[in-house]
Amino acid sequence: MNIVLLGAPGAGKGTQSALLQEKLGVPKISTGDMLRLAKEKQTELGIKASQYMKEGSLVPDDVVIGLIYERLQDSDCKSGFILDGFPRTVKQAESLKKILCELKRSLNAVINLEVKVEEVISRLSGRRQCVKCNQVYHIVYNPPKKNNICDRCAEQLMQREDDREETIRSRLVIYEQMTQPLVQYYKSENILKTVYGIGDVSLVFNQILEILKVSA
Ligand code: AP5
Repeated sequence: MNIVLLGAPGAGKGTQSALLQEKLGVPKISTGDMLRLAKEKQTELGIKASQYMKEGSLVPDDVVIGLIYERLQDSDCKSGFILDGFPRTVKQAESLKKILCELKRSLNAVINLEVKVEEVISRLSGRRQCVKCNQVYHIVYNPPKKNNICDRCAEQLMQREDDREETIRSRLVIYEQMTQPLVQYYKSENILKTVYGIGDVSLVFNQILEILKVSA
């Protein structure tokens, strides 16, 4: 199954795509995680991306489109993929369509996670992420079993640099301007499904499974 998860920063794309990855056995591809890894390794791409990410702006389209073009050709994507955080602009969506056409594939569903702004701010300011496996937690809504330690790999959790309130607000403005138009784009392609992203993580997940017609 080839799936895109759309939604504002903090809507739960990373959380739900990790659950889908486990359930469907296809890779979750997060451009945010790929860029953070490049930044950590101080590659040319990582250095270039880091300033945009720090400010909460989007990394230039050509950079992320190139990353996705390469990644979708990896053998583990043959049976499907879950895109988390890509596409984020109409140009990226149009490029994705072309890439998939070249690979003789298409999207099965675009799931839009809808969450109100106040909820997003509270979610992002309490988010913690594993430094090794990127597993996402929340200090109140989804805490790890041991304080600040990842349940999966026992590594430390960290707070993302762009999860400060001021940066969160600029990310939300950019989302409204650049990414929200994708809702209309995918509506007109007849593959958009909207899920109300509030409530228990497992309740949101069950709604997604229902849409995908996958048993819970
Ligand atoms: P990216 O890493 O993609 O960040 P984002 O899209 O802003 O989304 P987030 O990761 O902040 O949120 P999420 O929706 O995944 O929520 P999560 O599941 O973590 O991108 C970072 C930056 O990289 C961008 O700003 C940009 O600079 C660059 N970039 C990346 N992709 C790009 C692209 N395509 N083009 C250009 N630039 C790009 O959940 C958030 C919190 O809420 C967690 O703590 C979680 O535990 C909690 N939570 C989740 N679900 C629930 C629930 N149901 N109830 C309560 N709490 C919940």
